[in-house]
Amino acid sequence: MTAAPAVPSERQAGPSILEVVDLHVRYGGSHVLQGVSLGVPATGVTALLGRNGVGKTTTLKAILGLAPRHGSVRLGGIDLTTWSTARVVREGVGYVPEDREVFGGLTVEENLRLVGGDVGVSAPIVHELFPDLVARRNQKAGTLSGGQQQMVSLARVLLRENKLLLVDEPTKGLAPKLVTEVADVLARVARHTPILLVEQNLPLVRRIADTVIVLDAGKVVHRGTAAALLADAVLTRELLGVSMRREAPSADPANAPSRTNGGERRE
Ligand SMILES: Nc1ncnc2c1ncn2[C@@H]1O[C@H](COP(=O)(O)OP(=O)(O)OP(=O)(O)O)[C@@H](O)[C@H]1O
Ligand SMILES: [Mg+2]
Repeated sequence: MTAAPAVPSERQAGPSILEVVDLHVRYGGSHVLQGVSLGVPATGVTALLGRNGVGKTTTLKAILGLAPRHGSVRLGGIDLTTWSTARVVREGVGYVPEDREVFGGLTVEENLRLVGGDVGVSAPIVHELFPDLVARRNQKAGTLSGGQQQMVSLARVLLRENKLLLVDEPTKGLAPKLVTEVADVLARVARHTPILLVEQNLPLVRRIADTVIVLDAGKVVHRGTAAALLADAVLTRELLGVSMRREAPSADPANAPSRTNGGERRE
């Protein structure tokens, strides 16, 4: 493996909504996060990248208090480090986990009402962003496609007021058309709510992310703009182990199958 740069390459412009300083997570004898420090800007999409198993999901879980952690996590200047997960979520951190986890035996409407209470598919944001779910409100979530289940998972978290969204690999396993739809939803949400996004589809990252943060071996090894990193084939390969594929001009960039797990698709 080529050695990654030892220090982040760029300082962040603008204020952060989230500041993580010297975050450590140990699972038994395994030191998974080894002093992660990062700031998430208060606007737009920030992509958290890195090879498989470097600690991306663990970083999101540690921010939420779902992983045993040491270090400091501040949201809008408030120190959350000792808070319960429930309190972190109430404070405005929305989480869309890697495995969607909709309730298959419940309808779309029931899945949303579990979070939204009296408001389900009738919420304006659901009408605005997920018209397909309104049409499917009485369908059992277990009978939806993977892409539609991802939309339920996103809609559910958007029923709350969020200061920040943590979204883990939302396009994993989705067909190309659905990848584009999920990317469109995230880009629209990011107009009002900052997103920290774990995503292995690099064309999608280039399309919707402003900032990229790269983890390797439990540490941040690069920070910069998505455009600058993904235009640099040598650095992209060095940090992520894959090259950005050059697409035909007519292709939708969010559909191209370059992934940081070596370009293989997990569908
Ligand atoms: N609950 C756990 N107990 C023990 N080890 C864990 C646990 N969760 C994760 N790990 C280990 O921590 C490391 C980082 O895992 P993590 O899921 O954060 O990686 P990731 O970057 O999200 O990977 P991927 O790209 O595969 O999603 C891996 O070696 C993983 O096996
Ligand atoms: Mg993961």
